[in-house]
Amino acid sequence: MPATNPRSGLTDSLTPVLDATEGREPPELAGLFVVLEGGDGSGKSTQVSELARWLRADGHDVVTTREPGGTAAGASIREVLLHGGDLAPRAEALLYAADRAHHVASVVTPALAAGRVVVCDRYVDSTLAYQGGGRGLEAGELAAISGWAAQGLVPDLTVVLDVDPALALARTDRLREAPDRLEREPLAFHAAVRERFLALAAAAPARYAVVDAAAGIDDVAQQVRVAVEPRLAATTGAA
Ligand code: TYD
Repeated sequence: MPATNPRSGLTDSLTPVLDATEGREPPELAGLFVVLEGGDGSGKSTQVSELARWLRADGHDVVTTREPGGTAAGASIREVLLHGGDLAPRAEALLYAADRAHHVASVVTPALAAGRVVVCDRYVDSTLAYQGGGRGLEAGELAAISGWAAQGLVPDLTVVLDVDPALALARTDRLREAPDRLEREPLAFHAAVRERFLALAAAAPARYAVVDAAAGIDDVAQQVRVAVEPRLAATTGAA
């Protein structure tokens, strides 16, 4: 335990949540685990590609992946979550956790153990933001379920792409004809999701970066690179 509490002055209610999700096992994996988070229409998928391209050009061995749907089983779970019928909030939370459990065990942890850089589109914080902030499920319980599913694996860095949900959803509307089950939720839901992402980032600033995702693609990509670059020295996967 550190002598001083690095989170002093932070949101009390989220501190036990973060404690429940921390504690990476096995103790040290050689690679670097970077997660991009944000609301619907925040441009994450584009930024995952941009970041991976930049990292590869710099000689890193990169795996890009996503939740939900980063595995074959996960693709089926994703279909139920996004395009199936009505789901009770706890069933929804458990399906995201099931997707995560298999994804972490079969994709993320092996890549990190091999010293690779894993860039993941969404992770535990999406559960805390959507099923917690959005659906109103209890944060500590969600953290316990997600932490268990992920075997305590915590990202080295989580980059939150922050944008006003009204703007982000308008962007999504322009790109797609049929919004998925989560995108159909009202603006207040998406506003609560955004607030929860920001609260999580504020509660552990050492392992988060918040980026202004209203900016243009190149500007956002640059902000993401600035956040990731200092972490790269820690990986053994660099060429
Ligand atoms: P995403 O793949 O980012 O959607 P898209 O590529 O269509 O923009 O995420 C799918 C949806 O799942 C998104 O609305 C957020 C939601 N989600 C949760 O509610 N909880 C979770 O734990 C995760 C990982 C995603």
